[in-house]
Amino acid sequence: MNETPYPPLPSLRRVVEEGAARLHRYPDRLAGALTAGLARELGVDPGSILVGPGSAGLCQHLVQALGPRPEVVHAALSFEGYPLIVRNAGATAVPVPMDGHGHDLPAMAAAVTARTRCVLVCNPNNPTGAALRRAELVDFLDRVPADVPVVVDEAYRHFVTDPDVPDAMDLYRAYPNVCVLRTFSKAYGLAALRIGYAVVPPALAMAVRVVGMVFFPGSLGQAAALRALEPDVTGELERRCAAVVAARDRLADGLREAGVAVPPSQANFLWLPLGERAGAFAGAARAAGILVAALDGRGVRVTVGSDEANDRFLAFARDHLG
Ligand SMILES: Cc1ncc(COP(=O)(O)O)c(C=O)c1O
Repeated sequence: MNETPYPPLPSLRRVVEEGAARLHRYPDRLAGALTAGLARELGVDPGSILVGPGSAGLCQHLVQALGPRPEVVHAALSFEGYPLIVRNAGATAVPVPMDGHGHDLPAMAAAVTARTRCVLVCNPNNPTGAALRRAELVDFLDRVPADVPVVVDEAYRHFVTDPDVPDAMDLYRAYPNVCVLRTFSKAYGLAALRIGYAVVPPALAMAVRVVGMVFFPGSLGQAAALRALEPDVTGELERRCAAVVAARDRLADGLREAGVAVPPSQANFLWLPLGERAGAFAGAARAAGILVAALDGRGVRVTVGSDEANDRFLAFARDHLG
């Protein structure tokens, strides 16, 4: 599930343990402290920040709130949650085939019509790890009408090392229709707490708040996320992300040496385009005690783990595919 291999930092764990003493109290449904902390960190108005139960939950609130146009455009093959989110929000997905392992942005722009509620762009993309560069995203945003929101899902932003991959917050500042989705689940290692945030144009924020009002995140998630924004924690998390990135690149090289055409990844996972062999490979991996995600007929996604786990997986892949 693309979690970090690291256990929670002691400072974050402490916040959660302390919060346990107040479990009989409801959380702040406006997530005021965390919203203010994020606003400070990102340099935006607190009114444009939405905090919710994971970025997947927020994504659904967004898609619901952005109605009533019926269609949501997204890439296929992208985050497996999108088709479910779109359906749960009462919309119809318009999946646009990939250009290789990445989004086909010209085709996605062409798929936008008067029926389009919003566009979901996953950068870097799950499950392929491919990242869109600044110039192609800017070209895309120039083509999409300003009244069609473009949601840039940056769940894996912390693992990006290519300087040409834009920070979606810069796009948010430059275009009136860009929304940014981020999560504390991956790089921050808080997946179990279900906490993420969105930055949306202020005009849309109120509509999303109304839809999301019964979905506010729990107090432990709010407290841990707020603590995670402090410099001592971000510094340590950045070191951990750098280690994951180094391990990612080593694992990719090893797999390529083993003959797998692994595309470049800017996330904390790799895509093995095994086609029809995907299901059998994942089944054999499971039997060997290694859990990977198979998309039948397409490929296998493997999350970068500890050095030991990566070595075991590489040895398995060499044996199985060699
Ligand atoms: C692209 C993408 N967006 C969102 C999510 C959901 O993350 P969260 O735990 O914040 O709901 C995931 C999780 O796998 C993801 O891959």
